[in-house]
Amino acid sequence: MTLTDHRPVTATSPAADSPDEGRTWWRHAVIYQVYPRSWADGDGDGIGDLPGITTRLPYLKDLGVDAVWFSPFYTSPQADAGYDVADYRDIDPLFGSLADADAMLAEAKRLGLKVIVDLVPNHSSDEHPWFQAALAAAPGSPERARYLFRDGKGTDGQEPPNNWQSVFGGPAWTRVTEADGTPGQWYLHLFDTKQPDFDWTNPTVRDEFESVLRFWLDRGVAGFRVDVAHGLVKEDGLPDWAERTEMLHSGEEGEGEHRRAPMWDQDGVHEVYEGWRRVLDSYGAPDRILCAEAWVEPAERMALYVRRTEMHQAFNFAFLESLWHAPQLRETIAHSLEAAALVDAPTTWVLSNHDVIRHASRLGLRQDRRRPNGIGADDPQPDAEVGLRRARAATTLMLGLPGAAYLYQGEELGLPDSTDMPDEVRQDPAFVRTGGAEKGRDGCRVPMPWEKDAPALGFNTTGATWLPQPASYADLAVDQQQGRTGSTLELYRSLLATRRELGLGSAHLRWLEGYGDTVVALASVGADRADVAVLTNLGSDPVTLPEGEVLVVSGDLDADGRLPLDTSAWVRLAD
Ligand code: NOJ
Repeated sequence: MTLTDHRPVTATSPAADSPDEGRTWWRHAVIYQVYPRSWADGDGDGIGDLPGITTRLPYLKDLGVDAVWFSPFYTSPQADAGYDVADYRDIDPLFGSLADADAMLAEAKRLGLKVIVDLVPNHSSDEHPWFQAALAAAPGSPERARYLFRDGKGTDGQEPPNNWQSVFGGPAWTRVTEADGTPGQWYLHLFDTKQPDFDWTNPTVRDEFESVLRFWLDRGVAGFRVDVAHGLVKEDGLPDWAERTEMLHSGEEGEGEHRRAPMWDQDGVHEVYEGWRRVLDSYGAPDRILCAEAWVEPAERMALYVRRTEMHQAFNFAFLESLWHAPQLRETIAHSLEAAALVDAPTTWVLSNHDVIRHASRLGLRQDRRRPNGIGADDPQPDAEVGLRRARAATTLMLGLPGAAYLYQGEELGLPDSTDMPDEVRQDPAFVRTGGAEKGRDGCRVPMPWEKDAPALGFNTTGATWLPQPASYADLAVDQQQGRTGSTLELYRSLLATRRELGLGSAHLRWLEGYGDTVVALASVGADRADVAVLTNLGSDPVTLPEGEVLVVSGDLDADGRLPLDTSAWVRLAD
C-alpha cells in the first residue's frame, strides 16, 4: 500500500487561532462518554444518577476533555439499560429529574464542558405511550402506522412477516394479541422485544423527533449522539435476509457484488439527517452537533453521513475493530482520512464504548480473530499486562491523529473488562436472547472505581453496585493513580494537555518513511510549530526515536532510549 499524506480540509478547518475555531470545536474535540448507570451514584441505590454525576464533573475538567456524551437517562423500563425510551422528554427516576438534568447542564457550562445527549430514534420502549396506543388500536390504524406492524405469513398469520433476526439474537418480530383476545399482527424490533422499531416513512415520527431535538437544544445541549443511525429506514417491502443481523456487518459479499442488508444503511436515512441538520443550524454558533453511531462499511458509505448537510461526526468503528497489527492500523487510518476528506469531514476516532470489550482487555486477546461479544470466566482470558500496554499505546496513537476522539469512562484508568462476572448477575438482553452463547456487554459497564478504600470503590457511600466490581479495580481507582507518575490516568492527562497545546486534532498527517512494517509512523503537521512524530511500535525490535524532544511515551523507553514493543511516543521533531 502506498500511503499518501493527508492535508487538512480547508473549507471548514479554520486555523487554531482564527475566530471561527470555537464554532467548529467538534472537528478536533475530545469527548468523554459517561454511562450514567456506572459513573457516580448520589443516592446510593447502586445505580449511578445525575446528582452523583454533577458532583464529579470537575474531574473531567481536570482530565482535559472538551465535552461529555451521556448514554440515555430518559424515562425507561431499562430493558436495554435505557436504550428503550418511554419518554424522550423526561428523566428516569433512577437517574433523577429534569431539574437534576438542568443542574448538571449548568455545572457543565460553568466548567466549560459541552454536553452531548443520546438520541434513540430507531425504536422506542414498548412502554412508550405511542406503542401502548398502537397495541390498543386496530390493524391499519394511524396509531399502528408509527411502528412497523405487519400481518404474519402462513395459516392464520402464524409465521413472522419475514425471516429477520434481532441483533440480540432470536426473531426480530413479536406477535401481539389483539383487543378481542385473538392472535394478531406482528411488530418489528431489530433489538429486544421491548424495543419496537418506528416507521420512519411516517411524517408524524419525523415531526416528533425534530421536536425532541428542539426540546434538548433549548435546554442547552451541544448535540446528540444518534443511536443506530444507519437503521432508521428499512428497504421497501422488508425483503428476507437470511444472514444473522449484526450491527457491523451491513452487507453480504456475493459474486462481484455487495448486497446491503435491508435493515441497514438505506439511502433514505440521509433525508432524515438533512432535516435534523437544518434544525441544529437554526441555533447558530457555536455549532450544535450530531454524531452517528453507524456501523457502516466501507468508509466511503460512512462518509455520506458526515456530508456538510447532514451529521458532523460518525464514530470510526473500523479503527476500533482493527486488530493490533501495524499494516491494518495504517491502512485503516489512511483509508478513513481519505474517505472523510471526500466530503470535507473530520474523522472521529474511538477505541472503547459501552457495547464492546474495553480496549485494555480486547487488545490482550489473540489478535487473529474478531473480538467476541463479552468474555466469561470459562472463555479464553485476555493477558491483562499485554492488554494494558497495548491500550496505552493505542490511545497515544489515537490522540495524536487529526480529528475528534471519544473516550469511554474508565479507559483513562486502564480498566479491563470484568471477565469473571457470574452469569446470574448479567443484565444485557443479548446474554438472555442468545441463551448465554454471547456473554454480552455487562463486562464493560461495571461501576467506576474512584477510591480504593471506600464502599463500592467510591462509586457511592452504601457499597451497593448494580454489577459487581472486579477485584482488580481497587488498585486502579482514581485516588491510586492521581498524581502518580507513569499511571494511566496521568498518561491521559499529559496526552490531552499536549494535544490541546499543539493543536494535534486540527493538524494534518504526513506518513514517516523508513520505520518498517511493524511500526505505525506519522507526523502531525500543524501551522507555526515543529512537526510532531507519532510512533507506535508493534514489533519486537526496539525503534530508535527521531531526533527531537520526547513529549509523551505510553510506557518506558529501553535502556538505550529506544521505543520497545507495544509502546507509542510523541516526539517534537528537531528542525
Ligand atoms: C446501540 C447502543 O449503543 C446499544 O447499547 C443499544 O443496545 C443498541 N444501540 C440499541 O439501542
